[in-house]
Amino acid sequence: MNRVLNNPLESKQNPVFKIEEITKRFDGVIALDQVNIEVKPGELLSIIGPNGSGKTTLFNCITGFLRPEEGRIYYQEKEITRLPPDKISLMGIGRTFQSVSIFPSLTVLDNVLVSVQQHQEENNLKRILHTKDIQLLEEKAKEMAFDLLEKVKLYELRNELAENLVYGQRKLLEFICVLISDPKVIMLDEPAAGVNTSMVDEMKKFILDLNAEGKTVLLVEHNMGVVMDISQRIIVLDHGKKIAEGLPEEIRNNEQVQEAYFGT
Ligand SMILES: Nc1ncnc2c1ncn2[C@@H]1O[C@H](COP(=O)(O)OP(=O)(O)OP(=O)(O)O)[C@@H](O)[C@H]1O
Ligand SMILES: [Mg+2]
Repeated sequence: MNRVLNNPLESKQNPVFKIEEITKRFDGVIALDQVNIEVKPGELLSIIGPNGSGKTTLFNCITGFLRPEEGRIYYQEKEITRLPPDKISLMGIGRTFQSVSIFPSLTVLDNVLVSVQQHQEENNLKRILHTKDIQLLEEKAKEMAFDLLEKVKLYELRNELAENLVYGQRKLLEFICVLISDPKVIMLDEPAAGVNTSMVDEMKKFILDLNAEGKTVLLVEHNMGVVMDISQRIIVLDHGKKIAEGLPEEIRNNEQVQEAYFGT
């Protein structure tokens, strides 16, 4: 599989994200405990860790769905710690959710087109009047949607209700709904969970292609085959703390990581 030629890990550019000392508590539980992370432009970074180690909470803090009690989050040097999710998404940060979020009673194509509208700043009045601008925009969106659906082999199913898709196809559809807005950063929360092996391979290839196009990818995933195969760097969380960070081979051989995962 193709990797990007320039090594993003050696990039001298400013980080995409700078996460400084964030702490998030839920009642008695410390879900994130003074976590520091830097994400480099164009890298494919995986965040792994046992169940309940804080991975989804981290994604929720970055994307504005949760506010950490302590610490700061910067995106391209701009502080985003207290911004709402819609503002953060419009800055070019797209994400999928651990539990697939699509509209089951809409067709596959309409799911994609609805998410285009969610990302457009065109005002609703113009939309109601259906001006020339909007028509053009809609035609362009449809073209892009067809293109993406083709890439993940859902084009033939475009007029099918989303509820009739198998689980892996629903995940791919959600993925496309994120990509249609052309985000700079893509955050995927367990894209391979519950997906059959051949579709996992397609997903891996698709993620690598996106990364090769220059998109920064943050991946949360329990499937170690996927993680070890495609990540350029891995961060490990355990009980809300960052316990390790490094190249895939370094993480594979890290004793603390093995202990956190397997208790050995
Ligand atoms: N909304 C919430 N309210 C209360 N506790 C929460 C909430 N969200 C997460 N937690 C707790 O915070 C901790 C971290 O949860 P989180 O969902 O971030 O883990 P995770 O690493 O994503 O786990 P998994 O691999 O199972 O998805 C857990 O103890 C969890 O029970
Ligand atoms: Mg999770």
